[in-house]
Amino acid sequence: MAQYRNNGELFSDHGYRAFRRNRRFGRFTKQRLSKSWLLLTALLSLSLTAFGLRMFFLAKIDSQSPILISKSPIVPKLKEGSLKEEISASDVGRPPKSKHRKQHFPCDIGLLESVDVILEPNNYLNYTSFSLQYINQEEQKSVNNLFEPRFGGHQTLEEREKSFYAVNQTLHCGFIKGEGGYSSTGFDLDERDKAYMYNCKVAVSSCIFGSSDFLRRPTSRLISQYSKDNVCFVMFLDDQTLSTLSIEGNYPDDKGHVGLWKIVVVKNLPYEDMRRTGKVPKFLSHRLFPNSRYSIWLDSKMRLNADPLLIIEYFLWRRKAEFAISNHYDRHCVWEEVVQNKRLNKYDHAAIDEQFNFYQSDGLTKFDPLAANNSLSSYVPEGSLIVRAHTPMSNLFSCLWFNEVDRFTSRDQLSFAYTYLKLRRTNPDRPFHLYMFKDCERRAIVKLFRHRLLPS
Ligand SMILES: *[C@@H]1O[C@H](CO)[C@@H](O)[C@H](O)[C@H]1NC(C)=O
Ligand SMILES: *[C@@H]1O[C@H](CO)[C@@H](O)[C@H](O)[C@H]1NC(C)=O
Ligand SMILES: *[C@@H]1O[C@H](CO)[C@@H](O)[C@H](O)[C@H]1NC(C)=O
Repeated sequence: MAQYRNNGELFSDHGYRAFRRNRRFGRFTKQRLSKSWLLLTALLSLSLTAFGLRMFFLAKIDSQSPILISKSPIVPKLKEGSLKEEISASDVGRPPKSKHRKQHFPCDIGLLESVDVILEPNNYLNYTSFSLQYINQEEQKSVNNLFEPRFGGHQTLEEREKSFYAVNQTLHCGFIKGEGGYSSTGFDLDERDKAYMYNCKVAVSSCIFGSSDFLRRPTSRLISQYSKDNVCFVMFLDDQTLSTLSIEGNYPDDKGHVGLWKIVVVKNLPYEDMRRTGKVPKFLSHRLFPNSRYSIWLDSKMRLNADPLLIIEYFLWRRKAEFAISNHYDRHCVWEEVVQNKRLNKYDHAAIDEQFNFYQSDGLTKFDPLAANNSLSSYVPEGSLIVRAHTPMSNLFSCLWFNEVDRFTSRDQLSFAYTYLKLRRTNPDRPFHLYMFKDCERRAIVKLFRHRLLPS
C-alpha cells in the first residue's frame, strides 16, 4: 500500500475502505478502524467467508498508477452471452426518418442490486502504462503582438501528430495559460471548489452553460449511502444558469449543494460557443478531478437513475474496459452523421467539410458492420454518458478528442471515430480498452428529458 499517496481527508491511513452493515460488527468509524486494523482484517475475512460479501473496498489512488491493487478480488459472475454486442446490419445505413420518431426503450442490464456486494477487482484491466503531462503555459510563438493565449493552446499539426503516440509525453489538453502562466484563458474556478475536486476519488459530473437545461437531480433513493458519502457529484454552471436556476428555487445550500449536486460555478467561459465550453468538463474530468480514478459524465438533459459505483462495475469492471460510451441510438457511420449535421444545420457546413475532408485524407474509413472483430460497434457515439477509468490511455484519448473539438467543430460525434482509429493505428501494440454500449443500456440508468432550449 505504500505506493499510494494519502491526500484525502476522506480516507483513513489504510486507504479507502468502508465496511457497511456488517451483521456481526455493526458500523465502524474510520478512527476505530485504523486502530484495530489488524484485528479487523482477520475478523473480516472470517465474516466474509461466513456471511458472504458485505464489503465494498476501494483502495487509495495515486495519480501515477491509476489502477489499484486490492486484496481479494471478488467479481460477479457473468453470463458471457450478455456481453456480446449485437450489431445488426439492417440498422445501418437507414435514412433518418422525419415523421415517425422511433421509440427507444431501456433494456434490462442486470445492474447489481447493491454496492455492498461489489469490490474492485484486482487489476481488472491490463492497462497500457505510460506517463502523461500537460502543457500549462505557452510562450509567445510569433514576434508580432497578435499572439492571444487560448484555453486549448496553439498546437501545431506536427505536435498534434506526435500527441497520438501512447508514450511518456507532455501534450496540449486544455487549461493552457498565457505567458508567465498568469493570464487566465478561462474556466476559472473558486479555490475552495478546486480543493474539493482535488480530493474526489470518484466523480460524477455534468454541466449547464447558458441556461440550456433544467437541473435534474440524481434520484436519491437509487443511490447508496456509501456513494453519497464517497462519490463527488459536481454540476458545473455559469453565473447566468445559476441565477436562472436560483429563481426557479434551485438555490445552493450553505455547502453549495442542490440535492446531491455540488454546484461549481465557472467564471470566464473559455469559448463563446456554449457547446464547446461544455466539452471541457465532458472530456477533461481527469484534469478537473486530478486524483479521481473513475468518472462518469452525464449530459444535463438526463437524470441519473442508478448508483455510480454500480455503473462503474457494470460498464468498466465487468467489461474490462477503461472507457465506455454509448452508441448513437440511430446512426452508426460518421458519414451519416455528417449528412445529418448539415441537414439540421447543426454547424457551419464549410467547417464540417473542412474537418471531414481532413479526416478522410488522414484515413478515416466508413463503418463496416461486417467487420466482426471491430471493437468499435459504431462510429458514432451518443456521448451523453461516458464512464471512464482514469488510466493513461483513457486520459490520452480524452485529451486527443478534446483537441479535435478545440481545433475543428464542436460536434464531437464527428471526431470520435477518427480520434479512436488514429490512436489505434498509431499504437497497434498498445491496447485501449473501449466499450461502446447500446443505447438501451444507457436508458436503463438515466431518464431522458428534452433540453430547455434546443442547442443550436
Ligand atoms: C498486458 O499487456 C501487455 C502489452 O500489451 C502484454 O505484453 C502483456 O502480455 C499483457 N499481460 C497480460 C497478463 O495480459
Ligand atoms: C515514463 O515515465 C515513467 C514515470 O514517470 C518512468 O518510470 C519511465 O521510465 C518513463 N519511460 C520512458 C521510456 O521514458
Ligand atoms: C478476427 O478474429 C479471428 C479470431 O479472433 C481472427 O482469426 C481473424 O483473423 C480476425 N479477423 C480480422 C479481420 O481481424
